[in-house]
Amino acid sequence: MDKICIKGGVPLEGVIPIGGAKNAALPLMVASLLTSETLTLMNVPVLADIATMANLLVQHGVSVIRGAEGADSGHVVELSARHITSSTAPYDLVRKMRASVLVLGPLVARCGRARVSLPGGCAIGPRPVDLHIKGLQRLGAEVELREGYIDARAPKGLRGAEIAFPAVSVGATENLLMAASLAEGETQLINAAREPEITDLAECLVAMGARIDGIGTDRLSILGVPRLHGATHSVIPDRIETGTYIMAAAATNGEVRLTGTRLDLVAAVARILEGAGVEVAAAADGLTVRRYAERLEGVDVMTEPYPGFPTDLQAQIMALMTIADGASMITETIFENRFMHVPELARMGANINVHGASALVRGVPRLMGAPVMATDLRASVSLVVAGLAAAGETVINRVYHLDRGYERLEEKLAGCNARIERLRDGA
Ligand code: EPZ
Repeated sequence: MDKICIKGGVPLEGVIPIGGAKNAALPLMVASLLTSETLTLMNVPVLADIATMANLLVQHGVSVIRGAEGADSGHVVELSARHITSSTAPYDLVRKMRASVLVLGPLVARCGRARVSLPGGCAIGPRPVDLHIKGLQRLGAEVELREGYIDARAPKGLRGAEIAFPAVSVGATENLLMAASLAEGETQLINAAREPEITDLAECLVAMGARIDGIGTDRLSILGVPRLHGATHSVIPDRIETGTYIMAAAATNGEVRLTGTRLDLVAAVARILEGAGVEVAAAADGLTVRRYAERLEGVDVMTEPYPGFPTDLQAQIMALMTIADGASMITETIFENRFMHVPELARMGANINVHGASALVRGVPRLMGAPVMATDLRASVSLVVAGLAAAGETVINRVYHLDRGYERLEEKLAGCNARIERLRDGA
């Protein structure tokens, strides 16, 4: 397996281009199941998770073409679900990537039937899909759990309904938003997630002919239409990739400009970092990051649904706080088991104590490089942030996690003076 080797302690200086959001592109690709016409997506990142989703959709009968003619063709994907040949999402693909469960609602809405493997456990917590299933039942689908599969049927189509989510779920909101677009009558999604990725999906669905009100709020009204048509849509910038490079610049006391992104997508991050002595400011085509204090100050952080501080940046800000002056309390409210980076950061000299859902980080003057590994994407990249700031050499194992969510990570960082390289398997 490949490894990443970092010789830390060099401030990041330069420009980093930010790609399209993985977590927006995945549901947008799934939206292609809702129409027999072509959906063209632009600004789609080149990532392992995107390839996994493409494989799943191909298996359902969707034609997926990456890299049509024209500029930036590598980031353009054309999806045509003229005929859906299978409404089963098999275990082997779903277990690779939980976002596969997003095909459930669209397949039932379009074909009247879907069999989707239950995703099972995950490195960051149990992650049930009960809200997806209950919502679909509210839209009139009959759902049975059999042999590890969710078997959903609505032979006469779905009917609009009021669905009040007891908890905020990004995936359930996306699944039901897509299903309701083709249901008969009106659906209300109450306590819907408001993540920018959901707004992006809703805007693409509107471009495909869906009728959706309340976009950007926690109450979405969808008036179902008999059919949707093709469209062309550009994926929003990746706010988690943006936030990750913000932390990396701050951790190394560097100064970087991030292009192709927007400050409003990371407003909660910028607010928290201001208290830590880091300035994140809007710039032409993106934003700039620099520290205005010599030493970072410890700040408290609590993860929350958007517009709060994202759970997908919790590990990275923890890596940053390990070298701040004073203490920081980092509380994770979204996932049960998202502190796997803590023992790895501790191997690099960090002083962190976990008490339930909170981690108390006492800043140390500097981290020391070490061999480390992690069990999920964001935990892995937090070790990259730590390695860039640390003295000496850090070797990060299990790089495939990083390839799921960060396009050309080493190249982007090396372009800003980082001493980082990939050690190929067997090298
Ligand atoms: C999305 O996951 C993201 N994934 C995650 O990003 C992100 O961490 C998460 O939203 C929260 O922002 C994609 O967009 C592909 P949820 P999702 O449903 O939709 C519980 C990354 O690193 N829940 O909002 O699966 C659940 O267990 C990934 O890129 C239920 O109880 O998250 C969790 O505690 C990791 N029942 C909470 O809700 C359900 O039916 C939020 O989960 C669904 C969720």
